Amino acid sequence: MTLTIGVDVGGTKVAGGVVDATGVVVAQTRRDTPAADVGKTRDVIIEVVTELVAGRDVDAVGIGAAGWIDATRSTVLFAPNLAWRDEPLRAYVSTAVGLPVIVENDANVAAWAEFRYGAARDAEDSMVMFTIGTGVGGGIVLGGELVRGAHGIAAELGHMLTVPDGHQCGCGRLGCIEQYASGNALVRFARAGARQEPTRAPILLELAGGEAEAISGPMITTAARAGDPVAAEAFAQIGRWLGTSLADMAQILDPQVLVVGGGVVDAGDLLLGPTRRSYADALAARGRLPVAEILPAELGNTAGVIGAADLARRL
Ligand code: BGC
Ligand code: NA
Ligand code: ZN
Repeated sequence: MTLTIGVDVGGTKVAGGVVDATGVVVAQTRRDTPAADVGKTRDVIIEVVTELVAGRDVDAVGIGAAGWIDATRSTVLFAPNLAWRDEPLRAYVSTAVGLPVIVENDANVAAWAEFRYGAARDAEDSMVMFTIGTGVGGGIVLGGELVRGAHGIAAELGHMLTVPDGHQCGCGRLGCIEQYASGNALVRFARAGARQEPTRAPILLELAGGEAEAISGPMITTAARAGDPVAAEAFAQIGRWLGTSLADMAQILDPQVLVVGGGVVDAGDLLLGPTRRSYADALAARGRLPVAEILPAELGNTAGVIGAADLARRL
């Protein structure tokens, strides 16, 4: 069986895996992303691929990268949460490892994996996925194909305008959904809640050693599960914003399924409950139309690796 490699380059981790033709990851490795240093990030990607290729017959490499990719799937044009500016990643990696390479948006590859092998595998036609991480990513599948758009930059759902004149986004605008429904937003909401109402954040503050500014994403999940009101409210806030954007996507594209992915999905109903309620409230002609259900992603943090490898297979 032929093998391809998928690499998922996120704001904090570079994850790589060797994937077979049925979407099974047969080997994997990961490193921290030296996010501020473009040259080092490139070296880490090459290191990951070189390690995975050793002793194996690999056909191609797919790289999922957190930013806008050009139409030829070669260059990262811009990354709001990483240092890439017109970075010709395909050429660098392909030259270094001697294999065909494609570069695709990180959220597109995750959506593709969920469509083929994960939460949306029963949908043959269409899905829309939001990936909640450092940023908010989007992926759209229509007619069984990933939507890339005329210039390669389609499905940047994280930069939909949500709050006019709102919080500053890494893309240069104010008020994108990324500033209200990302992992970073979750942390911002939780820290603000713990500062304003410390008595309602007992577990959160205990985990953070009493310092609101030390609160991290995983602490919010742990605290919310243990019943901390401020932590639960932080999930409810991002869920409420997310629900409205999901309703917009249902109205624009009417996909078979809507999927929410990313680490925050581990919080389960703490996130999905408020998301589904806000989605239902935000739908036009509420209750009178058939609409997609919202499902949690199933492939966890291997979605990017699996999707990138599967797209490389189609080169
Ligand atoms: C970027 C997207 C990316 C998403 C998730 C956003 O800030 O614009 O390209 O898919 O973050 O990483
Ligand atoms: Na995308
Ligand atoms: Zn933005």
